[in-house]
Amino acid sequence: MKWQGLLNNYKEYLPVTDETPALTLNEGNTPLVYFPNLSKDLGIELYGKVEGANPTGSFKDRGMVVAVAKAIEDGSKSVICASTGNTSAAAAAYAAKAGIRAIIVIPKGKVALGKLAQAVMYGAEIIEIDGNFDDALTMVRKLSETTPVTLVNSVNPYRLEGQKTAAFEICDFLGEAPDILAIPVGNAGNISAYWKGFKEYNEHKQTGLPKMFGFEAEGSAAITQGEPIANPETIATAIRIGNPASWELAVNAKEESGGRIGSVTDDEIINAFKLLPSKEGIFAEPGSCASIAGVIQQVANGTIKKGSKVVAVLTGNGLKDPQTAMDQIKVEPVTLPNDEVAITEYIQNLVKQ
Ligand code: F0G
Repeated sequence: MKWQGLLNNYKEYLPVTDETPALTLNEGNTPLVYFPNLSKDLGIELYGKVEGANPTGSFKDRGMVVAVAKAIEDGSKSVICASTGNTSAAAAAYAAKAGIRAIIVIPKGKVALGKLAQAVMYGAEIIEIDGNFDDALTMVRKLSETTPVTLVNSVNPYRLEGQKTAAFEICDFLGEAPDILAIPVGNAGNISAYWKGFKEYNEHKQTGLPKMFGFEAEGSAAITQGEPIANPETIATAIRIGNPASWELAVNAKEESGGRIGSVTDDEIINAFKLLPSKEGIFAEPGSCASIAGVIQQVANGTIKKGSKVVAVLTGNGLKDPQTAMDQIKVEPVTLPNDEVAITEYIQNLVKQ
């Protein structure tokens, strides 16, 4: 059967009624890629769920297709969200497809270039504030209670409904749940959604349950430290969040699954950010690489046992944040004259080595 997006494919698991519009950008059905080189180095069986392959380049499309479809079903003409960039890109894209307005509130100077370009091109109303994501979320939550706009942050339960479908796909691909699901944690919606998905699929299909390993960035590690962080900081702007809205759900996922929520430093994130494309040919944005960084850390300290089957969620595409990539590596292309002999000689020397 041809893939026609999440609302069509997972009807029976989603709050879809006869009145729900058939909204889609053909999201979902993303690749689960085996990583032979990292698996060998780490002594585990490691896969990446490449969510950057979604239409707007992140996992947010899964939740947004449901949230926007339900907003339209309820007669809404505008959606609103706070965002570190990916939620706003997805909200803007689905609102554009559905012909409604998207209003996004973002922290000034802290949204990666590609994400901002998306919001502009999809035609969102963009509001920048001199504050962080947590400030923006507090404002839009309050405002949506008194104004005819639908809030599409992950506090909207339809978001988690859509995002849980990634867990279904992982179980279908592997035939069962992995031993460990490693995932970046920002506002903590996605880890909660995956856990819901694994539990529902296990009830229906006895696919088993993974241990949930969530990873925050150290400078924004509110759950790990047990208290909100007023001024969160990290190079991984996607997860630069100091007071996660789904804090309790995330802690439940950790406790029910026997997993853990910990933190990784910016250096560990950058190391994984460089390692993944160079070893496995997958380019994921810095925030996404918190999952890989966390796996490396937990293998090193012995918590993840050798031979474990691990799926790391790669939440967003590397092209979202070209600036952070360029800042990491000194790009020094060789300059040669426009001369066939010189170029041929140079390349022949290269391939000889
Ligand atoms: N990875 C990426 C690439 C993200 O954009 C986000 C969240 C996360 C991980 C964390 O997911 O919040 O469910 O724990 N981005 C949100 C946004 C906050 O506005 O785009 P979470």
